[in-house]
Amino acid sequence: MAEFALPANSKIGVGETYAAAAGTKNIKKFKVYRWTPDDGKKPTVDTYEVDMDACGPMVLDALIKIKNEIDSSLTFRRSCREGVCGSCAMNIDGTNTLACTKYISDVKGDVKISPLPHLPVVKDLVPDLSQLYAQYRSIEPWLQSETSAPPDEERKQSKEERAKLDGMWECILCFCCSTSCPSYWWNGDRYLGPAILLQAYRWIADSRDEATGQRLDNLEDPFRLYRCHTIMNCTRTCPKGLNPAEAIGKIKQMMVERQG
Ligand code: SF4
Ligand code: SF4
Ligand code: FES
Repeated sequence: MAEFALPANSKIGVGETYAAAAGTKNIKKFKVYRWTPDDGKKPTVDTYEVDMDACGPMVLDALIKIKNEIDSSLTFRRSCREGVCGSCAMNIDGTNTLACTKYISDVKGDVKISPLPHLPVVKDLVPDLSQLYAQYRSIEPWLQSETSAPPDEERKQSKEERAKLDGMWECILCFCCSTSCPSYWWNGDRYLGPAILLQAYRWIADSRDEATGQRLDNLEDPFRLYRCHTIMNCTRTCPKGLNPAEAIGKIKQMMVERQG
């Protein structure tokens, strides 16, 4: 992936540099993509010098420190700060990952930060996720069943049935995978991409769900599923260690089996 995975057709203007106070000994530079939709200016990369002796260990700690102490206009998403909400996904040092679980000490030299690539930018590090959420809605991510639940009981699964959901329920919909997938970059309006396909398989694999046939019908399309060319960027980049490429492979296998 490029060192700075900027939104398509971006031309970078000259950025600001925010120097640390005189006498600061332990400085790390953060080079951060900046763009505001309504000021008519080109995107820039601003440089913030941060005192590492007064900063937490994670990239998100540094961004919060910058916003609180240096430049309150810097805009990014975050919520849980422990890798479970997915909102702080961004490109750090050339890789899509979560700012709250990425150690600053793992980045050699300056820390380069840009929004998740190949999505429209709302402002600074905030990408527009509308298309991804619409695609998520299109796979109907909820349990569908004609059979009534047993009275006064939840729908039960065996341990083996439940285990089939491991590696999928952990997905936090951060979209690091989809925005690292070349097929999604070029055909994201029609290809569902790895995050949504992993979610689709999460419901297909659920023993309590009775809509498997419709779910597969919904994916049987040259673009929605079959644009995956097994390039594996998605699996390499997932900050939760999941394997969307494998889930996509299992959907394709089910398609073959039901034809045969
Ligand atoms: S394996 Fe498929 S979904 Fe994953 S990056 Fe490659 S083309 Fe995209
Ligand atoms: S599979 Fe991994 S990278 Fe993709 S959305 Fe889920 S948690 Fe994020
Ligand atoms: S803030 Fe929730 S995953 Fe980083």
